[in-house]
Amino acid sequence: MSITAQFWQMRATILTSDPPRRGILSFMRYCVKSALLRIEAILTPELENPIDSSNIGSIISVRGGVVDVRFDRSLPPIFSVLHTGVDGKIIVEVMAQLDAKRVRGIALTPTQGLARGMQVEDSGKPLEVPVGQEIMSRMFDVFGSAIDRKPAPQNVQWRTIHRSPPPLSERSTKSEIFETGIKAIDVLVPLERGGKAGLFGGAGVGKTVLLTEMIHNMIGHQHGMSIFCGIGERCREGEELYRGMKDAGVLKDMVMVYGQMNEPPGSRFRVGAAALTMAEYFRDDEHRDVLLLIDNIFRFIQAGMEVSGLLGEMPSRLGYQSTMSTDLSGLEERIANTHAGAITSIQAVYVPADDLTDPAAVHVFSHLSASIVLSRKRASEGLYPAIDLLQSSSKMATPGIVGDRHYNLAQEIRRTLAQYESLKDIVAMLGMEQLSLEDRNAVARARRLERFLTQPFFTTEQFSGMKGKLVSLKDSLDGCERILRDEFKDYPESALYMIGAIGEAKKPDEDKPKDQKSDPQPKVATVSPHES
Ligand SMILES: Nc1ncnc2c1ncn2[C@@H]1O[C@H](COP(=O)(O)OP(=O)(O)OP(=O)(O)O)[C@@H](O)[C@H]1O
Ligand SMILES: [Mg+2]
Repeated sequence: MSITAQFWQMRATILTSDPPRRGILSFMRYCVKSALLRIEAILTPELENPIDSSNIGSIISVRGGVVDVRFDRSLPPIFSVLHTGVDGKIIVEVMAQLDAKRVRGIALTPTQGLARGMQVEDSGKPLEVPVGQEIMSRMFDVFGSAIDRKPAPQNVQWRTIHRSPPPLSERSTKSEIFETGIKAIDVLVPLERGGKAGLFGGAGVGKTVLLTEMIHNMIGHQHGMSIFCGIGERCREGEELYRGMKDAGVLKDMVMVYGQMNEPPGSRFRVGAAALTMAEYFRDDEHRDVLLLIDNIFRFIQAGMEVSGLLGEMPSRLGYQSTMSTDLSGLEERIANTHAGAITSIQAVYVPADDLTDPAAVHVFSHLSASIVLSRKRASEGLYPAIDLLQSSSKMATPGIVGDRHYNLAQEIRRTLAQYESLKDIVAMLGMEQLSLEDRNAVARARRLERFLTQPFFTTEQFSGMKGKLVSLKDSLDGCERILRDEFKDYPESALYMIGAIGEAKKPDEDKPKDQKSDPQPKVATVSPHES
């Protein structure tokens, strides 16, 4: 009860007491006592009383992950981190200031056990993650806590995850190719060193496998370091990657940051920024080239949508948040090249219902320098990597950057594949016999090219039973050129399926009758679309 209220209560007691003298005496005693307490509180230095020095509030409502807190002393600014629950283990991030006394936050941890009236402590700072040499080969969550069951890294600096993109004056553009060792990508969708590439695909078409293969192929060759950021995907994938990298001996140059699908939306929404803060440290402070791998950027958008829904904001097209474009560019624009170093990023993008016109996919497209589209049809035919060779594109595929020979070859491959695509219906309905000789040759070339552009992966060795292959750009270009020159006309299509360089194509077996040289069933298990 406040002092004023007590005073009025006491006054009422005096007036009604019988005899009144007893009331007057106790009133005087009360006045002296409260004056002494006041003087003691003023004389006690603040530092001796830790509760007084921190900004403490109390919970006024909890609705799922949305927590409203009242602060009488000072209102925490937006993005402040609040601690509550047992041992302050429940963490809330301030998202809005409702009025002069109340803030609304989103819980970044599960909110079990949270109740109205519970104390909340304002940490006075936003979310921070550790940066420094010591974080190498470690695995973290969105709060920068180590989740690899090893002690927390020492000698690290803690930096806020809310940072702005580098100004235009500090950005640089280099037009250099980033070789992946994957034929279809190097020939038709060359990646940019310091650029952003997206792997688009519906559920289970091979985004994660392709991303993991790229990590495998690139990590050993590049001199920089890599950061893997898992957003809203399966926890087991994180564990598998950690173990895989450890076994391959490349963990020492890697940092992993996870906010997987079991985490609350607030945590999934912020984990991308946490990984980027680490990447920015290596770029700006250590002047290193960083490879940033994100699986899956769609889950970042989805988490933003959940947060916005929880906050009661009006949804926009297809239920996405109206701030999707700014949310995404806030993250993507930070992935930039400066004079200090470059961040090359490869991002998996889940495409809901295989619909590339989905607003999330469309927004991500606009940030990328290369888009690799994965097709369910190719996956179902066993043509892995299931890259849709006609829909995928790269800004780097220009003669000035890749050179005339590579550019002309890529154009010729696309033309042949497009011609085959347009003839597919006729072949299906009327058969090959109805085609002109020229068209028949184009179909044969396109089918051989399609098979040559498949490749066994190191990461799928266990279940495909085929040894992984890394193919240089030169070998890939030579192979395509020779197929286009009809040098493999007499080879069965299967001879080009799942091989590395073209030299591995087996000579046709002269003893076999000609009809056995047709395309056999692919050896790899076809995908069954699974729940995403
Ligand atoms: N290159 C490949 N070779 C052989 N099989 C593959 C290849 N790529 C994908 N697959 C098959 O497809 C399955 C699903 O692949 P993956 O997990 O990469 O899909 P995804 O696109 O990441 O799916 P999700 O959207 O559900 O995360 C794999 O388990 C594997 O069976
Ligand atoms: Mg995946």
